[in-house]
Amino acid sequence: MSRLRIFDETDPATPLLSTSDRGEMAAELAGIDVAFEQWDASRPIVPGDPHDVILDAYRADVDRLVEAHGFRTVDVVSIAPDHPDREAMRRKFLDEHFHQEDEVRFFVAGSGLFTLHAGGKVFEVLCESGDLIAVPDRMTHWFDMGPEPSFVAIRFFTEPDGWVGHFTGSDIAQKFPRYETGQALPA
Ligand SMILES: [Fe+2]
Repeated sequence: MSRLRIFDETDPATPLLSTSDRGEMAAELAGIDVAFEQWDASRPIVPGDPHDVILDAYRADVDRLVEAHGFRTVDVVSIAPDHPDREAMRRKFLDEHFHQEDEVRFFVAGSGLFTLHAGGKVFEVLCESGDLIAVPDRMTHWFDMGPEPSFVAIRFFTEPDGWVGHFTGSDIAQKFPRYETGQALPA
């Protein structure tokens, strides 16, 4: 189940809010300019479908987002729990960083944990199948796919070389919950 927890940046042990109500999640995240939406496939798909079939199933929403943000490329990424590079892939974005373009992901299947650091608070967003999250450029955040990553996601890019993580050097991400067992820690 999707979930948002909000913490004060100085207190990783005590969530100020914990909700799995997607409407409440969207409302809270809108307050920091993060979009959180749910998309339905226009036809039945399964995670192993070809990427163009997956994109076609979400074509109307994909096109709407491309139009709104000016994205130039859209792709589909699939990661399975037995991926040989899963540990390195997981480590890559575990520390606090930002990008110079929006980070926009739609979870076709599986899940991942985005944690956003904004306005003195930490917003931990467990994204599940059907969730779209759009993190604005320059917002500091980190992403944990867990030790046994499993997801199929649609990604949106503005610049071919824009997908670079600028790391802040902060250790804040290490103080907040990781996505350890494929399920975030209970509230
Ligand atoms: Fe990122």
